[in-house]
Amino acid sequence: MAEAGRIVAETFEAIKDSIAPDVSTEELDRLASDFILKKGGEPAFKGYRGYPATMCSSINEQVVHGIPSGRRLKQGDIVSVDLGVRYKGFYGDAAVTYAVGGVSPAARTLMRTTEEALWLGIAQAVEGNRVSDIAHAIQKHAEGRGFSIVRSFVGHGIGRSLHEEPQVPNFGPPGKGPRLLKGMALAIEPMVNAGGWQVKILDDGWTAVTADGSLSAHYEHTIVVTGAEPLVLTKLP
Ligand code: MF3
Ligand code: CO
Repeated sequence: MAEAGRIVAETFEAIKDSIAPDVSTEELDRLASDFILKKGGEPAFKGYRGYPATMCSSINEQVVHGIPSGRRLKQGDIVSVDLGVRYKGFYGDAAVTYAVGGVSPAARTLMRTTEEALWLGIAQAVEGNRVSDIAHAIQKHAEGRGFSIVRSFVGHGIGRSLHEEPQVPNFGPPGKGPRLLKGMALAIEPMVNAGGWQVKILDDGWTAVTADGSLSAHYEHTIVVTGAEPLVLTKLP
């Protein structure tokens, strides 16, 4: 799993300088796919329930599961890139929201808050805590900044499958759900909206957008619960 996670992290490094005005999300998808294959991995999302691409690229009001296309990024957009890799039978999964050129202060604050919420959630992923302690830390931070938490998508266990038990919601009271045990691997992935939490799915059957058209950000890491600090597998040392 550590190796799968490392390939995910390296893929973000490999594509991030190309995330700039005028690149199409299809071109980014190709860069990611080529890199993953070169490393001996397989894109984990391609073919998953019929998903057609290597990454999800969700622009502005798109929340998650945006399908790469000929659409070109433009100055001021934010784009959430979500990537999964399968390597020697194990999965890694992560997401980052990028600014395309300079973006509005509101977009910056949303991105920063969502990333902070992810790290506060990760900090709760310690032996003996419960799954909803992660959720509560994320929700408290995002809502404390006046943002809202998407409810219809959640994080998940991960390992020999992309999605395993338990579900890891990003909202809820603390102290509920399964107890976290040493060795559990989780993909923690807050999706935070600038406006309301409601989302709808576009006619392509995949792309989730905010119902009110407000901006949305998404950050994700694959982590392992240990006796001490969580190990973050999708981050380079
Ligand atoms: N990070 C998302 C998840 O874990 C991405 C899944 S996209 C899909 O659910 F195409 F694989 F569905
Ligand atoms: Co995930």
